[in-house]
Amino acid sequence: MGYEFIEFEKEDKGVGILSINRPQALNALNWDTLKDLGNFIENDFPNENLRVLIITGSGGKAFVAGADIAQMSEMNDAQFKEYTNYAHKIYNLIEHSPCPSIAAVNGYALGGGCELALACDLRIASEKAKLGFPEVKLGIFPGWGGSQRATRIMGNGKAKELIYTGEMISAEEALRIGLVERVVPHDVIMEEAMKLAGLIADRAPLAVSAAKKAINKGSEMDLDKALGLEKDLIFSCFDTDDRIEGMKAFLEKRDPEFEGK
Ligand code: CAA
Repeated sequence: MGYEFIEFEKEDKGVGILSINRPQALNALNWDTLKDLGNFIENDFPNENLRVLIITGSGGKAFVAGADIAQMSEMNDAQFKEYTNYAHKIYNLIEHSPCPSIAAVNGYALGGGCELALACDLRIASEKAKLGFPEVKLGIFPGWGGSQRATRIMGNGKAKELIYTGEMISAEEALRIGLVERVVPHDVIMEEAMKLAGLIADRAPLAVSAAKKAINKGSEMDLDKALGLEKDLIFSCFDTDDRIEGMKAFLEKRDPEFEGK
């Protein structure tokens, strides 16, 4: 793989851990770091046959502190467009991948870092994490998906409060407003992320992917169309070996062995 600014390890049960690894800048996504993340997501992620991808940050202090402000300050309009278009492309690939993803938010998740966490399916935060969108302090606003994904996850009011003020919030507050799903002690965040990933990895992968698609795509449709999509997807699940195995295992009072077929 040969990446400089990310690390990837494949653990048991097909759980992959991708760490953004630029701790000297709190894992801020400069071009090289974003390119490493993007190359992994575009080229390696689809071939790893993962059941769950966990994304986290190296160094113990930050998940990702955002886009790289020093680099952005030197960009012209065309360069900023290229940078932003690429971030959108990669975050969309994470969001729409059939593989579920968990952001293990182990410190600062700010701006483009919080937006990366929002592109993941689930967010688990360390009690030391700080989250927010400081962009308006820099004369921009969360434009790597944040103004759209935050509103869909937290509702307009809370998203506007966070985005207009640029204030950071604690992990507990993020939990209260639905920006993260779980808060855990800092020292055990990876253990807890692995436990959550392990639970998902034990389930029928095609069913989990179908549920992801039904929720993600369905929430963008009107209810009639969304219910139609849900039916199409459950029909496709019914027609799988895993469905036969899951129901058979239940009747035989044993754990199922799913193969993703
Ligand atoms: N870009 C570039 N460098 C960054 C960075 C960023 N987003 N965040 C942190 N760093 C660098 C700092 O410049 C510093 O480098 P030096 O040691 O070379 O000076 C190093 O990381 C450590 O940071 P601090 O000394 O600032 O650490 P701290 O503990 O005092 O503060 C912090 C931590 C509150 C997170 C602070 O670093 C900070 O406010 N960072 C910026 C966060 C931010 O504004 N993010 C949004 C970026 S805009 C964006 O993401 C755009 C978008 O949506 C498209």
